[in-house]
Amino acid sequence: MPKRKLKFREPTPREPNLSGHLALVTGANRGIGLAIARALAREGCNLVITGRDERALAKARAELEKLQPEKFKVHVLAQSCDVRNPDSVDYLFALVRGLHKPLDIVINNAGIGHPDLAVGELPYPTWMEVIDTNLNGLFLVTQAALAVMQRGSTIVNNLSIAAERVFTGSAAYNASKHGALGFTDTLREELRPKGIRVIALMPGATDTAIWDVLWPKAPRRKMMSGETVARTVVNALLLPENTTVEKIVVMPSSGTL
Ligand SMILES: NC(=O)c1ccc[n+]([C@@H]2O[C@H](COP(=O)([O-])OP(=O)(O)OC[C@H]3O[C@@H](n4cnc5c(N)ncnc54)[C@H](OP(=O)(O)O)[C@@H]3O)[C@@H](O)[C@H]2O)c1
Repeated sequence: MPKRKLKFREPTPREPNLSGHLALVTGANRGIGLAIARALAREGCNLVITGRDERALAKARAELEKLQPEKFKVHVLAQSCDVRNPDSVDYLFALVRGLHKPLDIVINNAGIGHPDLAVGELPYPTWMEVIDTNLNGLFLVTQAALAVMQRGSTIVNNLSIAAERVFTGSAAYNASKHGALGFTDTLREELRPKGIRVIALMPGATDTAIWDVLWPKAPRRKMMSGETVARTVVNALLLPENTTVEKIVVMPSSGTL
């Protein structure tokens, strides 16, 4: 009996391809930001990574440079930047402009939580620090980034499920993330005619250092990994340019903690 020759279909090339794209990830020296940076490096993106802790940033850079896909050199610029400080953000973007390449992807990820305290006990400096980082910092970085972004690029704002629901004892965090969602939704409509996609990333509990502050005894084993969250972001970025996921709500399957 003549043997049937099996024909394998060539894999369909993924469109769009992120290799060679330039991505900025704030707060990328650990946690979800580093996980997203790793996932983007594996896709061949060149990276600008930030955070305040310079040692952690240098370590992240060394790791990311080793993750390049085959036959591809990934360039990583690691620059310390405090997203609350306009001068620090200006300096970062002077360096970005010096790369002479538009930013294809901006991941606004830098953010902080605060200890579990009811409104009556929440110190004003804590309130200010959280709003300054999670909301004002988001504004400063986004505004600077818009000047170096073009049609076809994408902004992902890492919010939280706390952007839509509330957790008692987390008033400043909830307020900052609700505000950040309002900002993100406005930005999306403003940028729609310019062909820049805006994605609200809304993860539930993810196992990172933020929980050392929010709830040190939280059950980590129920949480997602940063890598899982990163995968949802890369999947969204790989959609064709004429398509977007406007909101990514990704949760542990067991629900909120
Ligand atoms: N983990 C979760 O369950 C969860 C769920 C939903 C959303 N999120 C959001 O995910 C984002 C990342 O948090 P994470 O969970 O990965 O926590 P994390 O491990 O504590 O990471 C926070 C990152 O933000 C940076 N950062 C904090 N303040 C900054 C500032 N003023 N300027 C610049 N960078 C700053 C930190 O670096 P430096 O301290 O060195 O500056 C670090 O890289 C946050 O926006 C958080 O709200 C987290």
